Amino acid sequence: MIVCRTIAELRAARARLPSPVGFVPTMGYLHDGHLALVRRCRAENAATVVSIFVNPTQFDRQDDFAGYPRDVPRDMGLLDEEGVNIVFVPSAEEMYPPGFKTIVRVREITDVLEGAHRPGHFDGVATVVTKLFNIVMPDRAYFGQKDAQQVVVVKRLVADLNIPIELRVVPTVREPDGLAMSSRNVRLSPEGRRVAPILYRALSEAQAAWRSGRERDAEALRRLVRARVGQEPRIRLEYVSVAHRETLQELNGEVTDGLLSLAAWIDDVRLIDNVILEEEP
Ligand code: PAF
Repeated sequence: MIVCRTIAELRAARARLPSPVGFVPTMGYLHDGHLALVRRCRAENAATVVSIFVNPTQFDRQDDFAGYPRDVPRDMGLLDEEGVNIVFVPSAEEMYPPGFKTIVRVREITDVLEGAHRPGHFDGVATVVTKLFNIVMPDRAYFGQKDAQQVVVVKRLVADLNIPIELRVVPTVREPDGLAMSSRNVRLSPEGRRVAPILYRALSEAQAAWRSGRERDAEALRRLVRARVGQEPRIRLEYVSVAHRETLQELNGEVTDGLLSLAAWIDDVRLIDNVILEEEP
């Protein structure tokens, strides 16, 4: 595995890779969710590039950025074992040198859900993803469904800016008790970790109610999730949403297809999760 720390090194190594090249952007502290992206990428491409960069511009709170878990040596070991060709580990100065002024902003779909609660988050994501795409120039890029809004935003960005990269979305990987894998899970206290699976349980129950036809009303579905999560006083729900899968606008009345998502705080850890309201695949 070749380790590149500068854009020049990455470009030189990338030029020698066979095609097609797949790319998995990450912020490191890898778990099985990331490895599912890497494995899918490896299976579908002749070469795989992974980036590890805790992007400072997508954090709306300095304490969240500072406390974001990091272990690059361990990540490199895991990626090497997976047979990754190149890992790109740039510094913040390499990505944002003095004089940096450009922001990529995707409008409207970034004003809701995560965007409404994390000001500037998606400007940071859209900007860094555009930069990484321009640097790595992959044929395909892999993103996890857990960050559902990020997927919608990156799809829009790629279409609007005519970026010749095919996006592939990989289902959320979960712990045996249903908790969505996230680098943030390690920051949960034992008690917080014990109660966290209720988030997915609440989403799944609402999804089952929708699928069986028992409950199709958007507000009633939101209420079901709030009531279930509300049974656990340690959890503070930030939002529960039933939204259109592309516009991300909140739905009202009967739902025929949608994205059911939530964000919640457990102690000082913010977690997100979602399920799709569609017929059983
Ligand atoms: O999903 C993430 O880990 C990040 O938002 C990404 C796509 C690597 C951009 O920093």
